[in-house]
Amino acid sequence: MTHVATTAQPAADRAAFLREFLQDPFTVAAVTPSSAALADVVTATVPNTGAPVVVELGPGTGAFTAAIQRRLAGRGRHLAVEINARFAERLAARYPGVDVTVADARGLRDVLARHGHRHADVIVSGLPWAAFTPDRQDDLLDAVTGTLTPDGAFTTFAYTHTRWAPPARRLRRLLRARFEEVVLSRTVWANVPPAFVYYCRRPRTTPNR
Ligand SMILES: C[S@@+](CC[C@H](N)C(=O)[O-])C[C@H]1O[C@@H](n2cnc3c(N)ncnc32)[C@H](O)[C@@H]1O
Repeated sequence: MTHVATTAQPAADRAAFLREFLQDPFTVAAVTPSSAALADVVTATVPNTGAPVVVELGPGTGAFTAAIQRRLAGRGRHLAVEINARFAERLAARYPGVDVTVADARGLRDVLARHGHRHADVIVSGLPWAAFTPDRQDDLLDAVTGTLTPDGAFTTFAYTHTRWAPPARRLRRLLRARFEEVVLSRTVWANVPPAFVYYCRRPRTTPNR
C-alpha cells in the first residue's frame, strides 16, 4: 500500500488554531497546524523501544502529539508544555495519556520535577523561534539543554522560506553553540508552508558561545 503524505488537519483543529492565532499572533505564530508529514519527520527521534521520557514544547492543537503517542504506543511518559490554556485544555481532553501542563517552556525543569523526572530523553519542539526575542530564545534553549540527557535528542522545525532570514540564522548559530551535532532534514513540502527539521544531539555542558 502507498501512503501519501497529507497536509490536511481536521477542520476543527484548523479553526481553533486560526482563532488562537488571531487572538495572539506572536505566541501562536502560524495560521494553521503542522501537517502529519512534518510530524513524522520531527518525531523521528522518539525511540521504538524502552520507556523514554518525551517532552513536547508548544503542542498547539496536537499535530506532533498524535505522532509521538503513536510512536510511544503506551511506553514511557509524554509531557506536553503549552503556554495557551485553551490549547492545553483541548489537548488534555483528546489525549488522556499525555501529561499536559499550562506553562512557559522556560520552566521546563520545574514541569519535569513536578512529574517526578529530572531529565528528558527526547524533546520535540513546536515553538515559534522566529517570533521570540534573542533573550527568550537563549532562555528556552538553556531550559532544553539543562534538562536533556547527554545522549538525548532535541528536534525543532523552521519554515524553509525563512531559512536565510536573520532570526533563522541566529537560531542555527545558537543550536550549533549548544549541541555538538546539528543536522538538518530534507524539506518537507507537504506542509503549509514547507518546513525542515533540526536534529540536535549531544548537548554541550557549557554553551560554546
Ligand atoms: C507554531 S505553533 C505550533 C503548534 C504545533 N506544534 C504545530 O506544529 O501545529 C506554536 C505553539 O507554541 C506555543 N507556545 C508559544 N510560546 C510558548 C512558550 N514560551 N511555552 C510553551 N508554549 C509556547 C503556542 O501557544 C503554540 O501552541
